[in-house]
Amino acid sequence: MDLKIASTIKMNNSVEIPRLGLGTWQAQADGTARQAVEWALEAGYRHIDTASAYGNEENVGAAIASSNLPREDIFVVTKVFNDDQGYDSTLKACEDSLKRLQLDYVDLYLVHWPVSGLRKDTWRAMVRLAEEGFCRSVGVSNYTIRHLDELLADSPIVPAANQIELSPFLTRTTLVDYCQSKGIVVEAYSPLARSRKLGDPRLVAVAEKYGKSTAQVALRWALQHDFVVIPKSTNKERIFENANLFDFALSAEDMALMDSFDEDYWTINLAWNPEKSNKWE
Ligand code: A2P
Repeated sequence: MDLKIASTIKMNNSVEIPRLGLGTWQAQADGTARQAVEWALEAGYRHIDTASAYGNEENVGAAIASSNLPREDIFVVTKVFNDDQGYDSTLKACEDSLKRLQLDYVDLYLVHWPVSGLRKDTWRAMVRLAEEGFCRSVGVSNYTIRHLDELLADSPIVPAANQIELSPFLTRTTLVDYCQSKGIVVEAYSPLARSRKLGDPRLVAVAEKYGKSTAQVALRWALQHDFVVIPKSTNKERIFENANLFDFALSAEDMALMDSFDEDYWTINLAWNPEKSNKWE
């Protein structure tokens, strides 16, 4: 697989999403998030993932504004959070996010969680926002097959992406296969399992074989599965390390080996787990 840092995946609406993005959950809005985005752009990332719930959209917007990069060269993702779901409130939430980001449009706007009772109205608003050009594409996050089936039964468009927790320790193959069969790009968040599994001896053995870090082989595994991958870091060295994925390729055998690391390892707690908590019915 001849991937580069600028490599993209064409989504079902023909918009191209860069395969590597910077995650910003828990990147503080005290300037930390701004600095992280500046380093990421310096390292060659052209995709930044934020959310209104992260509280750092102003920081992300400031970094983009000061980068001197053409707007169309940066792929910006943000999300409508749970309290804002519903038709009118989603329209308003998007407008507010754009103001905080200092942007006229985002490249991808996501429904952050599949909130019971509000999903249909929220999605109708998402479709309108895409039609009106405030978002080049719209998608969902933390949706399970049940939520996607419900959406697809009553939507003029297929979501461009589903952003879900995914790592070699949480492979979710049934959901991944479903999304890929419907033309929904899979975005892997917490692809490093929040660094909690980077010392796993099985992962260490693969990393040593390639002379890379365990984080790098975990991210490369995601790329070779055609997932968009958004590792979070606010540390300059690690932001650069996580972008240094394009001078090696995992063999088919090692991909299969890493697939076998799956142990249903979630980093989000049970209440937020859309597969296991009845909160998201
Ligand atoms: P930091 O921001 O200090 O770099 P995930 O993307 O799976 O949610 O993981 C994010 C967590 O992993 C953060 O705590 C981040 O800390 C840490 N992290 C990010 N990149 C690396 C890396 N290359 N090696 C070790 N830890 C990392």
